[in-house]
Amino acid sequence: MELIEKLNWRYAAKAMNGQKVPQEKVDKILEASRLAPTSSGLQPFEIIVITNQEIKEQIKPHAWNQPQITDCSHLLVFAAWDNYTEERINRMFDLTNEIRGFENEGWENYRQMLLGMYPQRSAEENFTHAAKQAYIGFGAAIIAAAFEEVDSTPMEGFVPEEVDKILNLQEKGLKSVLLLPLGYRDPSNDWLVNLTKIRKPKEDFVTEIN
Ligand SMILES: Cc1cc2nc3c(=O)[nH]c(=O)nc-3n(C[C@H](O)[C@H](O)[C@H](O)COP(=O)(O)O)c2cc1C
Repeated sequence: MELIEKLNWRYAAKAMNGQKVPQEKVDKILEASRLAPTSSGLQPFEIIVITNQEIKEQIKPHAWNQPQITDCSHLLVFAAWDNYTEERINRMFDLTNEIRGFENEGWENYRQMLLGMYPQRSAEENFTHAAKQAYIGFGAAIIAAAFEEVDSTPMEGFVPEEVDKILNLQEKGLKSVLLLPLGYRDPSNDWLVNLTKIRKPKEDFVTEIN
């Protein structure tokens, strides 16, 4: 299947059958997310991968009791930095210098610019910015899952504060933003599986300026 065919095959699965997704496929999905671009390359989010059934059971009531939470194979939690700190910004710039093996004046000036800007902003503004980056990684994971012919359900339908408590995310300076159950569809229990995919027509979506 071509990518576009796979994206037509993909849908937000409403029921999953509990079958395990092979680890190598999960790893590719996570890697696609790690490779997603982010603003200034800061990668201000992490992914928590949950296979523990008890933890999934604890999360479910805080996620509208959606059955995919417990019937999925792997539950991915996308969690963004609660703030941009000097330490977090420096860590990514230092990592760049370490891996590339040189310092660059332009890059160092850019570091100073960010250090002079982000840590002075409110934690709320910084978290909102970090959460937007998590959405980019989330999109990459959804597409990679489809490419691997793994089903997924993008989810905003949960109470982040409750999930944060269950996973002790505050301790790590993180806040949950999105959930992505990965697994395999259960057509016999899924009202959406055979319905036609709805998207607005291309002419309402793309404006060409020639
Ligand atoms: C950010 C985001 C949050 C979503 N939250 C939920 C959710 O909590 N539960 C759910 O069943 N579907 C959720 N969806 C799925 C959308 O409703 C679905 O992607 C959209 O209707 C298009 O349908 P399709 O994905 O099947 O093509 C979410 C999708 C996105 C992108």
